[in-house]
Amino acid sequence: MELSDAIRRRRMVRNYDPDRPVPAEVIDRLLGYAVHAPSAGFSQGWEFLLLDDAESRAKFWAVTSTPGEMDNWLAGMTRAPVLVVAHSHRDAYLDRYAEPDKGWTDRDEQRWPVPYWDVDTGMAALLMLLTAVDDGLAACFFGVPPEAHDAVRTAFDVPPGRNLVGVVSVGYAAPDRRSPSLRRGRRAVEQVAHEGRFGAPYQRP
Ligand SMILES: Cc1cc2nc3c(=O)[nH]c(=O)nc-3n(C[C@H](O)[C@H](O)[C@H](O)COP(=O)(O)O)c2cc1C
Repeated sequence: MELSDAIRRRRMVRNYDPDRPVPAEVIDRLLGYAVHAPSAGFSQGWEFLLLDDAESRAKFWAVTSTPGEMDNWLAGMTRAPVLVVAHSHRDAYLDRYAEPDKGWTDRDEQRWPVPYWDVDTGMAALLMLLTAVDDGLAACFFGVPPEAHDAVRTAFDVPPGRNLVGVVSVGYAAPDRRSPSLRRGRRAVEQVAHEGRFGAPYQRP
């Protein structure tokens, strides 16, 4: 598949065929391409927790959702045969930038324009989303409520200093409901791109 097709076809899918497992080679490609994401100083401070068996997925959903509150979203998402829980590791960046070629030995977080550890983990997640499309599968990136992060940490032995950025669910698509958020419509390039200065919209050729 051409990259442009994968980009255009990608959409978040929130219901999966529970009877079609994700082939091991697809999982391997997802993770293999995730580590090709760019990262500040090549810090690569990301960690991916792969949940690809029924028991570990059930444990994930048990600690991240409220018992008895099964809605359409959760029903569809719990059918995903694979979850990749993406964590960022801030200290990997502070350590990397304290090295001689960077020289930020004070490890001061104020130096960072934004938390690039989270940004880079998000870029890795996007590569997983696109890889799934490229292989004819579907995926969704979703967040875990902050109040559930400690439970995930405990359930899966997540080491200290890791931040749960989000989860990529993967599987073969089943019919799902269009997200109400999409009613917002896609913002046009002319609305979001500015040429030379804000207030001068970019003119498409
Ligand atoms: C940072 C981030 C967090 C998101 N969190 C959720 C989520 O918790 N649940 C969900 O169903 N979708 C989530 N989404 C998916 C968005 O709703 C979706 O990307 C958006 O509506 C546009 O739809 P599309 O990706 O299918 O084009 C998230 C997307 C991003 C980038």
